[in-house]
Amino acid sequence: MSYDSDFSEKTVVVTGGGSGIGRETAVAFAEGGANVVVGDLDVAGGEETVETITERTDGHGTFVEVNVTDDDDVERLIETATTQYDGLDVAFNNAGIGGTFDATEEISEADWSQIIDVNLTGVWRCLREEIPVMLEDGGGAIINTASILGRVGEAGTPAYTASKHGVVGLTKVAALDHATDDIRVNAVCPGYIETQMLDDAGVTRDEDLLEQTKALHPMKRLGNVEEIAGAVTWLASDAASFVTGETLDVDGGYLSR
Ligand SMILES: NC(=O)c1ccc[n+]([C@@H]2O[C@H](COP(=O)([O-])OP(=O)(O)OC[C@H]3O[C@@H](n4cnc5c(N)ncnc54)[C@H](O)[C@@H]3O)[C@@H](O)[C@H]2O)c1
Repeated sequence: MSYDSDFSEKTVVVTGGGSGIGRETAVAFAEGGANVVVGDLDVAGGEETVETITERTDGHGTFVEVNVTDDDDVERLIETATTQYDGLDVAFNNAGIGGTFDATEEISEADWSQIIDVNLTGVWRCLREEIPVMLEDGGGAIINTASILGRVGEAGTPAYTASKHGVVGLTKVAALDHATDDIRVNAVCPGYIETQMLDDAGVTRDEDLLEQTKALHPMKRLGNVEEIAGAVTWLASDAASFVTGETLDVDGGYLSR
């Protein structure tokens, strides 16, 4: 897929950029000419994304090892963007984990806390570092990865669903807080997308489960990472200049049923 938007001279940070949706979106921004700072826990994955950026695009990439549950790591990630490149124009707060499948009353407190810490508090930690830089620079665009499970529930996913509903709410508040500061804050809500996360959950490895999962989407298929990268780069582009506080469903019709 080719992406239309021009991000020349822009500095972009992508968390969870070492795999799946984050990797493809980091490459998409670089194809538009951006300098992309890729943050991830996974060093090999993050470095591979930067290699792809160097080989396939005119943009530049830098990898920073980051755990979004660590305040200092997140601070270092944003500092790298501002010192190595110039300021911060776009942030894609995307790092996330699926976690366990448990009934609401059965999930352990340790699993609950970890999922909320990565998926929800991790996004807030990023916003806390990104917004002051964007305020100083005169604006920017932020996209947070929520999920269809930020809009509806799914049995057996209490912490994941709560974390993604939290991301949707946090996105709206950050958008309202900075609506007159030229900082737009939006969320993308993917349906089921073919990535490592679905593989880890067993979905793409079990033929019956795969068919059931496809059937949940009126388009009768899973989405692919290019389809999310296309939506995220559009939300980050000037074409979306009047869009803020939006949760954009990219879900093959899942939420329209
Ligand atoms: N794949 C789907 O079906 C789907 C659907 C809806 C939403 N999402 C969301 O999309 C985002 C990306 O997921 P994906 O499908 O590309 O999965 P993925 O597993 O391919 O990628 C997730 C990346 O996040 C990184 N990561 C995990 N915990 C981290 C942490 N604490 N600090 C820094 N990096 C961390 C991982 O190392 C990995 O590189 C997640 O927020 C996920 O919840 C995925």
